[in-house]
Amino acid sequence: MTVHFIGAGPGAPDLLTLRGRDIIARCPVCLYAGSLVPEAILGHCPPGARIVNTAPMSLDEIVAEIVDATAAGHDVARLHSGDLSVWSALGEQTRRLDALGIPYTVTPGVPSFAAAAAALGRELTLPEVAQSVVLTRTSGRASAMPDTETLAAFAATRATLAVHLSIHALDKVVAELLPFYGADCPAAVVYRASWPEETIIRAPLGELAAKVVEAAHIDRTALILVGHSLGSSDFRESALYDPGYQRRYRGRGE
Ligand SMILES: C[S@@+](CC[C@H](N)C(=O)[O-])C[C@H]1O[C@@H](n2cnc3c(N)ncnc32)[C@H](O)[C@@H]1O
Repeated sequence: MTVHFIGAGPGAPDLLTLRGRDIIARCPVCLYAGSLVPEAILGHCPPGARIVNTAPMSLDEIVAEIVDATAAGHDVARLHSGDLSVWSALGEQTRRLDALGIPYTVTPGVPSFAAAAAALGRELTLPEVAQSVVLTRTSGRASAMPDTETLAAFAATRATLAVHLSIHALDKVVAELLPFYGADCPAAVVYRASWPEETIIRAPLGELAAKVVEAAHIDRTALILVGHSLGSSDFRESALYDPGYQRRYRGRGE
């Protein structure tokens, strides 16, 4: 029997992969990680499925659910918000499953940074403006940051930053970034990207915190995006669609 880890996407029920939907539909047990996985996605579970919200459970309790289900001959769908490659607790669960000899698969999902970029209608990498996106966070109760992974270290590159799990510390985030990006640098907070209550706050970095306070209802499920890619309109076009590039490289399978 197999545990299928599935990225459930950023919130909108139709931002789930077809593969994820089909796996959910054939698993008699579904464990999902709290309120960020929308009810409509749970609607893909087969009739009579055992559906468990793991938000209040410890890792031991979650693993016990998995062991019981697989011992009873049931496949398990394990849902986490967004994609599984970042802040999903995939690593600690698969380590336990490896030790227990329980097989698993991993199906990716739409990450929240991509949903936030889509909400803003922006590409986060622009030629000669920014060619890297840093997905990061600040220290929280559950996880401290490694010493070398400071906002200042990432900011020194001027890459586009997508700061997760940190809206409660927005003042501190802004203060750390200002010396590198400047007060005029375009920035945004996207709250609940792809949900009906999605809210976008765009402001220069120096004004962002005050704008978010004005909006009042922004809490927890929000991303902070900072970088010149969010505002540039005078960037150079990429060579990809340049006619010379097309003549030289297209048609050669490159
Ligand atoms: C535990 S992490 C989960 C990240 C998730 N695995 C992903 O791929 O985006 C939760 C954080 O992701 C961000 N987040 C998740 N869903 C979001 C959404 N729909 N809109 C904005 N931010 C979101 C917030 O910063 C939130 O604090």
